[in-house]
Amino acid sequence: MKKLMTLALLSATALTAPAKAEDSVEVLHWWTSGGEAAAVSVLKDALQAKGVTWNDMPVAGGSGEAAMTVVRSRVTAGNPPTSVQMLGYDILEWADQGALSNLDATAKAEGWDDVVPQALQFFAKSDGHWVSAPVNVHSTNWVWTSGKIMEELGVTEAPADFAGLLDIAKRAQDAGYIGIAHGGQPWQEATVFDSVAIATGGLDWYKKVFVELDQDAINSPTMIEALNNLGEYRALVDDNFSGRDWNLATAMVINDQAAFQIMGDWAKGEFVNAGEVAGEDFQCWRVPGTEGVVTFNADQFAMFNVGDDRKNAQAEMASSVMSPEFQVAFNIVKGSAPARIDVSDAEFDACGKKGMADLKAANAGGTLVGSQAQGHANRPAVKTAFSDAITAFFNGELTAEEAAEEMADTVAIAQQ
Ligand code: GAL
Repeated sequence: MKKLMTLALLSATALTAPAKAEDSVEVLHWWTSGGEAAAVSVLKDALQAKGVTWNDMPVAGGSGEAAMTVVRSRVTAGNPPTSVQMLGYDILEWADQGALSNLDATAKAEGWDDVVPQALQFFAKSDGHWVSAPVNVHSTNWVWTSGKIMEELGVTEAPADFAGLLDIAKRAQDAGYIGIAHGGQPWQEATVFDSVAIATGGLDWYKKVFVELDQDAINSPTMIEALNNLGEYRALVDDNFSGRDWNLATAMVINDQAAFQIMGDWAKGEFVNAGEVAGEDFQCWRVPGTEGVVTFNADQFAMFNVGDDRKNAQAEMASSVMSPEFQVAFNIVKGSAPARIDVSDAEFDACGKKGMADLKAANAGGTLVGSQAQGHANRPAVKTAFSDAITAFFNGELTAEEAAEEMADTVAIAQQ
């Protein structure tokens, strides 16, 4: 009897004692804009419904460079967050250092191998083990237009080529608007250059340059031509572009001050957050000259090695991220496509449906390629070597010829 009572007492204690560390996750991410914050809330609410507390650790700055600096200092101090929003090769670098957890048990129980596209599994696994949970598939080769300005200019469809797109910006300027909404930060210039490069040199050349790092393709007449095309784009942005955040540039399109922005489909999250309707208040086109190609990047939640007391909540988070219902709810708000191949597009708007269909077609047709700017074409040091030269050219510090040469030199060093 006494023994039974002790047991009853023990289990009552176990049930009621708040297992603090076990039911909370600390998540480091860079989703700080209006649309991004709305998307984060979807995840936070899903976890809180399971009794898992969300400790938010936002570090602003698209493409996550600032966030990665904070992660480095946390890991060095022996105190990693539970989970970190991460892109492509950043995940693999952390995995190589042995800093990430093994998610195989959850992945196996939930059949992730069968539903996550191979292109994403490449970054979510290390030595065949799951270390990260992919939350979406974004892509960078999009144009977001002001419906009002397009109507005023009589533009009813995407132009045939990149020159036609720039022509729309010129006509918008003539009508008193800003031609192109541009955020002057290196990662944004690199993001625009993903599209300019493909529109100029085609997909095979893009792969030679950014994936294979072929020196002859990097320092080539085609690169000089691509940079000069970026220079033509540069001539159509307003004077206050320097340092501007990407979402403030999106707001210029939402507010019908600028004709369009070239940006990844996280921009759609801003339109949705502002109550705008796809296909009416704004249009989404693939950047003319890049149709058929999808330059993708996938946000993933890399799971760090944490103490046993935090592993359960970490597994709960991985499981929530991968649930089909969550993937639909989250990606509708975020502007991206789900990271699973088995979810319906029924609830997505016209741009979401297009994004999902484009992704499927590009995956089947061999035209899905990692975004250089967003860390899916090569290692972080290489990415930075390219984006530094692109930005230096954009800001007039290097000529196109000098920038092409600089890229070849610094990329070679970054590979060592
Ligand atoms: C990207 C990320 C997106 C988006 C964007 C701007 O790197 O993949 O989810 O939020 O940065 O912050």
